[in-house]
Amino acid sequence: MNVLLTGGCGYIGSHVAVVLMSAGHEAVLVDNLSNSHQTIVDKVAEIVGRSPAFYQGDVGEVAFVRNIIRRHRIDAVIHLAGFKSVGESVQQPLMYYQNNVCGALGLLQAMEAESISNIVFSSSATIYGDPQYLPVNEAHPKHVINAYGRSKLHIEDMLRDICISRPSLGAVCLRYFNPVGAHQSGLIGDHPRGIPNNLMPYVVQVACGEREFLNVFGADYPTPDGTGVRDYIHVMDLAEGHMAALKYLSSNSGWHAFNLGTGRGYSVLEMIRAFERQSGRTVPYRLVARREGDVACSYADVQAATFELNWKATRSLEDMCSSSWLFQSRLSTE
Ligand code: NAD
Ligand code: UD1
Repeated sequence: MNVLLTGGCGYIGSHVAVVLMSAGHEAVLVDNLSNSHQTIVDKVAEIVGRSPAFYQGDVGEVAFVRNIIRRHRIDAVIHLAGFKSVGESVQQPLMYYQNNVCGALGLLQAMEAESISNIVFSSSATIYGDPQYLPVNEAHPKHVINAYGRSKLHIEDMLRDICISRPSLGAVCLRYFNPVGAHQSGLIGDHPRGIPNNLMPYVVQVACGEREFLNVFGADYPTPDGTGVRDYIHVMDLAEGHMAALKYLSSNSGWHAFNLGTGRGYSVLEMIRAFERQSGRTVPYRLVARREGDVACSYADVQAATFELNWKATRSLEDMCSSSWLFQSRLSTE
């Protein structure tokens, strides 16, 4: 299958490219490099033994995307391109609607013009807001509290509408929980620009001495040790979930949404301890006030993905931590 991967040079997209190509498919990467580097294309090639096609440009540019679809005889699209910082989206909502929503709109117009029927979309568990019950299943009420989350929900809704208008179309929205870890080679991984917002990249930078200590946001949550609990999922498991979604679309049309998580939550302190064991480093931390907008506890009900997609996360917390550390160690020596 020839698959167009938007945001293919990013953290998750690069792992999806590896999984697709290792399974014998062709991945065509489109990325404007706003949050990534072209060197990722070479890293993917090094891992899989052949190079993916790469085009630098904006996913919202209809003519540009149509050309790529035609040239590579694209069969399906995995749409990962987008901005993803919650804090930034609160400061600059229009930038998020422009890039995420208008980007998706242009892509969908290009797909329609070229009669491409299948799309897998990177959605987020953020659309559930503060969980009303646990584990969170796909029927959980949606409650977005920032422009990032709303941009994801808008795109899910656009996909739902076009699936109603064209019954042959198939769309799978994958609601990621907390992706962490890296490919086992340590060649690709999460490498955010500037100060990391997310827990794992911050922990890694503290462990290697780039930052002095970790701020643990809140130790007074109603959780076993008082710190926030999340469903961390290995990025390679997540990437394999995209393959499962593509397979699902080969025999199912219509709009679908699936949680991708492990179904199990770990606290911030549990994450720190697991990382320390795997890296052999200490991670100094300070307990500080809660971060605004954070929820106490969130983990996925993964039954739908298990039974419908025939997919399950298999990698352990140890794998998540050791691969993150390997990636950072290789980065430090580059
Ligand atoms: P990332 O920033 O590493 O990757 C996104 C890629 O998209 C980047 O390479 C960026 O350069 C590119 N991009 C952004 N806007 C573009 C545009 N208009 N045209 C072309 N390329 C564009 O982020 P990621 O962590 O790999 O996330 C991928 C997707 O998954 C995003 O849509 C994100 O919202 C979603 N998601 C991520 C997480 C997470 O924790 N990483 C959780 C839930 C959902
Ligand atoms: C955040 C976003 C979410 C997005 C996800 C993936 C918010 C409110 N939510 O989720 O929308 O989909 O990232 O990009 O921003 N923590 C610390 N210290 C840190 C960083 C994090 O203690 O320096 C804690 C947090 O309080 C939380 C846990 O670690 O309990 C995980 O945080 P993070 O990695 O930022 O993910 P989420 O908050 O779940």
